[in-house]
This record gives sequence, C-alpha cells and structure tokens, in this order.
Amino acid sequence: MNLTRRKRSVLFSVFISAGLTLGGMMNAHAQVSKFKPGAVWPDNNGVHINAHGGGVLYQNGTYYWFGEHKIGGEAGNVAHVGVHAYSSKDLYNWKDEGIALKVSDDKTSDIAKGCILERPKVVYNARTKKYVMWFHLELLGKGYDAARTGVAVADRVTGPFKFIRSYRPNPGHMPYYPAGTPVAEQINAQHPANKSDSIFMRDFPGGQMARDMTVFVDDDAKAYHVFSSEENNTLHLAELSDDYTSHTGKFVRVYIGQSTEAPAIFKSNGKYYMIGSGCTGWAPNPARWFTATSIWGPWTYKGNPCVGSGAQKTFGGQSTHVLPVAGKKNAFIFMADKWEPKNAIDGRHLWLPIVFKGDDIEISWRDEWSLNYFDEQPDQKQATQKTK
Ligand code: GAL
Repeated sequence: MNLTRRKRSVLFSVFISAGLTLGGMMNAHAQVSKFKPGAVWPDNNGVHINAHGGGVLYQNGTYYWFGEHKIGGEAGNVAHVGVHAYSSKDLYNWKDEGIALKVSDDKTSDIAKGCILERPKVVYNARTKKYVMWFHLELLGKGYDAARTGVAVADRVTGPFKFIRSYRPNPGHMPYYPAGTPVAEQINAQHPANKSDSIFMRDFPGGQMARDMTVFVDDDAKAYHVFSSEENNTLHLAELSDDYTSHTGKFVRVYIGQSTEAPAIFKSNGKYYMIGSGCTGWAPNPARWFTATSIWGPWTYKGNPCVGSGAQKTFGGQSTHVLPVAGKKNAFIFMADKWEPKNAIDGRHLWLPIVFKGDDIEISWRDEWSLNYFDEQPDQKQATQKTK
C-alpha cells in the first residue's frame, strides 16, 4: 500500500497511542546496544519506554528508571496511571517493571486520577531500608496552582509505593544563609527587595511553592530536595529529614529571580554540579548549569553547558536527571525529555554524555553513542588511571 506521508504519520501515532511501536512489533526482543537520543526506545516488550520527567536509581548492579506514565493525546499531560518503573543491567535494555505508584480512583485523594504528577525521583534510605519517592504534585482540577510536593514510600524498589502526603515545604522558615552570603541576597521580611522576595514572604506562613524538582543523596547519606519555588522564579535547595520523608526547615535559594526549572544534580571530584532549564513550559530553551564546592552554595551560574548545533534549545529537550554510570569514573549521562504535549506518550528521551573540560562541563549532540564513549575521553581516562 502506498501511504502518503501524512497517513503514515497518523498510523504511527495510532500505534504509539496503543502503546506499541512499529519497530517493537517487528522485533520485540531485539537487544539495544546504543543510545539513540530522540528515537523510539523499545523496552523488553518492544514498547517505547513510558517514563517521562524521570530519574534513575542504581542498586546492587541494577538500574531502576522511574518516570511519568503518559497516555496518548493531550490528555496524557495529566496523570491517568501513575509512575512507571523499568529495570536494566546495562542502561540500554530496559525491562518493564509495571506501575510503581498508582494514582487513586478516589476523587478526594491528593493523587486522584487526573491530577498532575511530574518528575518523580526515587532514593533509597539505608537506615530505614525504605525506598522514598518524591514528585511534583498538582491537585485534580486546579491546573498548576497547588504547587506541592508529594512523597510516597515502598519496601521494594519497584513498589508498590504508598502515598504518604503532599504539601508546600518549609512553612515559617527563613532561608539558611551560609557565612559570606551577600546582604543583597538575604530577604528583608519587612521590605522585600524584589518580586521573588515578595512571593517568598507571601508564602512564608503556609509553605513554599514546589514544582519542577529533583532529589539528591550526598556521600554522607544526607538527602536534598531541589525545586522551582516562588512562582518558578527561584530554586530552593532544601535538606530532607534523616528518613528522607520530610523537610527539616533548612534550605537555600539558588539563582534568585532567574526562573530555573528542571533541576538535576550530581557530584564529581568533590564538586557539586547542577543543570537546569529556563521556564518556557513544554517548549525547549537553553539549558543552564551551576557549580558549588558546598551543597549550601554559593552556586555559581556557568551558562549553557550545551555546545554546537541545537545547543540554544538543548537539542529539543529539557533536563530531568544526571545519571552516574556505575563502575566508570567521571561518567555521567545527561537525561532530558523531548516533550510531545500534543501526544504526550510519544515524548522522547534524550540521553547524552557529559564531557568534562577540567572542572567545566559540556554536552553536545550525538545521533548515537555507547558507554565506550566515556573511555575515549582524555579527562575520563586520566580519572580512571588515577584510581588504579
Ligand atoms: C515544564 C516543566 C514540566 C511541566 C511543563 C508544563 O516547564 O518542566 O515538568 O510542568 O512545564 O507546562
């Protein structure tokens, strides 16, 4: 049959909406041996991986990828199913582990079907032996007004996760100012100096807004929640309690009034790195990165880590997580989403290697690549040799 291009694309969307892919149908169990940023990425059933705005947890030789399960069409921009989990030993081939956190059929639940549940991140608490999932939550039918964070807990890595609560963090707490914080960066509660400071004071009694987010566990097992706050004007980096299920009230503000979203953090050679995006909804914009020698900052703005063609739009994507590759020194994967808001399930995953230039980082486009790439980088090689 000689299908026109339009018909072919409609047919393809139908397959995608049904949770199928053409490639997957023809070859459900083909092994994947390369990353192909932006391509359909089939799981063990040949279905495009449905884990958007996600993060990866590594444990005992296995990677677990958690992300938003989307459905077809614009309806997929809200949560009809929950958080989807996948597992992999090699980062290329992913096994469907089902829905780790289900949205609720009870319309009065905070996580009622049809709510907005975005950017889930799972961490393991060695002390309590529980898996803790944090996510951005918007209550059913309220658009993006609630600006809450939600937390759920599980005994097994792939769930089922039990929803605990949702809220706006740190009510009644002023930021923590490490020694040396310029007075200009400290909030004057009586006379807020700018829009973001005013929003902070507006929300001071009830808790701070929390939208795009990530969670980071440091080498000393302390965990931090980083989220877009103050109407998305300013990031908050906030300490979590020892069991990782609540906030302690200690937090700093990062890049005040500069509208950073989609934060992802990692640590290399004792330095902290954060990558984020600007604030343009589903549409891509230039990425931005920051570095710090202490988790509490100061976080120095370093510009756009992306270079080359497509760098001004983060190659069509938006950051979601930075994944340390186990067993390789200084090997980190930048994970981004290429959103498809008109057919959410068809959102693509852009995974690209982070390249170190001294203490600076760079990300450039590659049509395809494999983990061997890290062994070919002079900086990575040096790091490997140093550890021998
Ligand atoms: C993006 C954000 C996504 C989603 C979207 C909604 O900026 O990173 O997670 O919230 O806006 O428009």
